[in-house]
Amino acid sequence: MTTVGELWASTTEVIGDRNHARWLVETAVSVDSIDEAVAEPVTDRMVAHLDRMVARYRGGEPLQYVLGHWAFRHLELAVDPRVLIPRSETEEVTGVALTIARRVHPRRVLELGTGSGAIGLSMAYELPIEGTEVWITDIDPDALDVARANLAGIGRAARNVRIAAGSWFDALDTSLRFDVIVSNPPYIADGDLEVATDVLEYEPHRALFSGSDGLDAIREIVSGAPARLRSGGSLVLEIGYRQGATVRSLLLAAGFSGAEIIPDAAGLDRIAVASVP
Ligand SMILES: C[S@@+](CC[C@H](N)C(=O)[O-])C[C@H]1O[C@@H](n2cnc3c(N)ncnc32)[C@H](O)[C@@H]1O
Repeated sequence: MTTVGELWASTTEVIGDRNHARWLVETAVSVDSIDEAVAEPVTDRMVAHLDRMVARYRGGEPLQYVLGHWAFRHLELAVDPRVLIPRSETEEVTGVALTIARRVHPRRVLELGTGSGAIGLSMAYELPIEGTEVWITDIDPDALDVARANLAGIGRAARNVRIAAGSWFDALDTSLRFDVIVSNPPYIADGDLEVATDVLEYEPHRALFSGSDGLDAIREIVSGAPARLRSGGSLVLEIGYRQGATVRSLLLAAGFSGAEIIPDAAGLDRIAVASVP
């Protein structure tokens, strides 16, 4: 009889990372925490599941896709190669958007380019149920399928979420106005050599790249947002760490006031926030 603890030890030996081995085994044997299951016996089916995951992991596929889920703020999101793997910087972007949204009641929030649903579904989940409406959009119907699957994981707050398909603001009826618009758009320049190989190979290119300077999507969102914001409403954008000054200029040129660039936990320019009068 093999135990969960033994499987963890042998997997650690094979892949050389104890934490990654823990998460793979937890997923294969379907437990929330391996610590409570180390002495439990494993079945052949669990071992076969683990072997398949380990083979994918050793082949270079990102751990998050191999696991099929990843934690984002308070949610455990389903993720697969149809969507970008949610990043920790984006948790910070979501935190900024939430702080602004909490000041308004009732509030209508829009997330453009939702992918897995990370930002928009977290906002719906963390804001009070009463007086909250969150719209999430994406151009990619496959990504919206993943977001829909994740909608089920936010419980009662799901009733506050509306889903729309289409390119940026074209996804929405022109009469809709929002208090907060938030987006982590694609912002990498085509051909950027800093992009890691596994990102290039596995993550959806439409979620990553945006023209020769990486700013095509940001330009479109910044120019379209003022007409979609209610008076005093705010735009919150995740941006590339070298884009702060340019995005600030774009925001001011589009008529926003008080455009601010906020660094992420690593001290890099990452979040642009601006409001309309
Ligand atoms: C950087 S990913 C962000 C995904 C998710 N919001 C997150 O933060 O993890 C950008 C998303 O924008 C979507 N996207 C790209 N072009 C778009 C467009 N023209 N209109 C709407 N969404 C678009 C992509 O499909 C992708 O899901």
